[in-house]
Amino acid sequence: MRFRSRRYLACSEALEGTVPPVPPVNVLRATGRVTLGTDQRAGASGAAAGCAGARSARAVAAARLTACRSMLPPARVTSEASGETRQPRSTRDCLGKKTHSCSGSRRLGQYRPAHMSTAANLADVAARVVAASTRSTARASTNPARLVAVSKTKPVEQLRECYDAGQRCFGENYVQEIVEKAPQMPPDTVWHFIGHLQSNKVKALVTGVPSLAVVETVDTVKLANKLNNAVGEFLEERARVGAGKLGVMVQVNTSGEESKFGVEPKDCLPLARHIHDECSNLAFRGLMTIGMPDYTSRPENFQTLAACRDEVCAGLGLETKDVELSMGMSGDFESAIEMGSDNVRVGSTIFGARANMYSEHLKK
Ligand SMILES: Cc1ncc(COP(=O)(O)O)c(C=O)c1O
Repeated sequence: MRFRSRRYLACSEALEGTVPPVPPVNVLRATGRVTLGTDQRAGASGAAAGCAGARSARAVAAARLTACRSMLPPARVTSEASGETRQPRSTRDCLGKKTHSCSGSRRLGQYRPAHMSTAANLADVAARVVAASTRSTARASTNPARLVAVSKTKPVEQLRECYDAGQRCFGENYVQEIVEKAPQMPPDTVWHFIGHLQSNKVKALVTGVPSLAVVETVDTVKLANKLNNAVGEFLEERARVGAGKLGVMVQVNTSGEESKFGVEPKDCLPLARHIHDECSNLAFRGLMTIGMPDYTSRPENFQTLAACRDEVCAGLGLETKDVELSMGMSGDFESAIEMGSDNVRVGSTIFGARANMYSEHLKK
């Protein structure tokens, strides 16, 4: 009974707007309004992809409402093993699988009730991505923006929970970490590398993650060449796992801080041209930016990236829809989408705060 009332209260709070409503993914699915995990472009899928059914903020709100109403536990649960039915005794019973322990994020003071699992956070972010994509008039694509779930420093169990909820696209920052995690995830996981990549780690990355889809952080000709060569030597193995050319994005330093990686906006076209014209094993996918060191971007940063794209498209004779913008993180992904982002990288809102997020970022 205690479980029933806690959950019921949490649900009511969500409906009142006291806490953000976060419906479980399976409930969103059941509404038929949000479908998770469908691929949107070749080689890259995301939880937000394929959400064509959710065409308006009202539709998303309705999905959330239905979801919250459905959060009451079932009257009976059935054991898969024996077929026996009984009253639910635990959260695990009601959700049908182990719920995520959130002690880490609680220690950091983030409000996250136990029933708000990683999958529930993911569903909420995915719904917000869809809603922002619907509102956006600045995007070239009619598909919702791709959601890259940034799982750096997070255990594979949490990634699995997202995968089971339909998420396919994950972003990692460290070579050693992605190389360790990749074999533990299903083969159709779509990996984006989003951290600073040193040339001497390129081979380890390319060979350690044969299905690597995109490196979002290319900022020198040297790095582009290293990636091109490494992929060239490993093409057979990549083909075996269904991966062809490696997608790459040029990282642009739109905030102008000296400490930040990324090319200056004026150097974006020459690097994009080099990748496009000289690197036959790489597919130029677009431009990426991080924003400010406190993990927020300013509208000017987003505008700068969009202006770089215009220049690249004009210079290389490409269409806007063929050059993606990767911008937007937990704090600003909705405004980034409204300003034209095709690819948002969201970590802490899905997985919980990282212990040393700020200091890590400053080290970059
Ligand atoms: C390049 C990049 N993008 C996105 C993120 C995710 O940031 P947040 O946790 O604020 O969503 C990170 C986090 O480390 C990052 O390094």
